[in-house]
Amino acid sequence: MNELKEIEDEIRSCKKCPLHLSRKNAVPGEGGISSGVMFVGEAPGYNEDIQGRPFVGAAGKLLTELIERVLGFKRSEVYITNVVKCRPPNNRDPEESEIEICSQYLERQIKAIRPSIVISLGRHSTLYFLSKAGVKARGIMSVRGKPYKVRISGVSFTLFPTIHPAAALYNPNQRSIIEEDFKRIRNLLGGITRFF
Ligand code: URA
Ligand code: SF4
Repeated sequence: MNELKEIEDEIRSCKKCPLHLSRKNAVPGEGGISSGVMFVGEAPGYNEDIQGRPFVGAAGKLLTELIERVLGFKRSEVYITNVVKCRPPNNRDPEESEIEICSQYLERQIKAIRPSIVISLGRHSTLYFLSKAGVKARGIMSVRGKPYKVRISGVSFTLFPTIHPAAALYNPNQRSIIEEDFKRIRNLLGGITRFF
């Protein structure tokens, strides 16, 4: 079995933090790795918990549409996951301690995938990555829409933060922001080189 599948299986049976008590299914992540493109959200929601798959609700529908229409990938060609792999009760924010414990899986996934670009979706995911890069950020709006160089678990990649697709669902201003950011990602992908 390959390393990525092994990590996914470990996540499905993980009991390292209290979130395992209330989950229906852990959500390890899914998708292809040869594109070198990885999307990282915050944590599974209601639908993801039921299906054990990332971004399968309304926000996921928008994410999938942007990946396919603006970037020109099939959803199955990019890897999609979250910082925290089990749904927090009532979709509350994940706690610091939960992020700390669970992010070891994300770091192992990054090592196994060796992405050339990671798109962080929303504040929690973005602040997690930027803190690893030693960048202090006040909020998502001041850092979104531009690339950062990040190195995690010995893997160097471009981090591109954008807003969470859930925020763009019912707000036309946010909808144009995420659309604009995806166009910038498309341009960036045109000139990107992989680091291995
Ligand atoms: N929101 C997230 O951050 N992740 C998902 O998988 C679904 C919704
Ligand atoms: Fe394990 Fe992460 Fe789920 Fe906690 S959230 S039980 S650390 S997989």
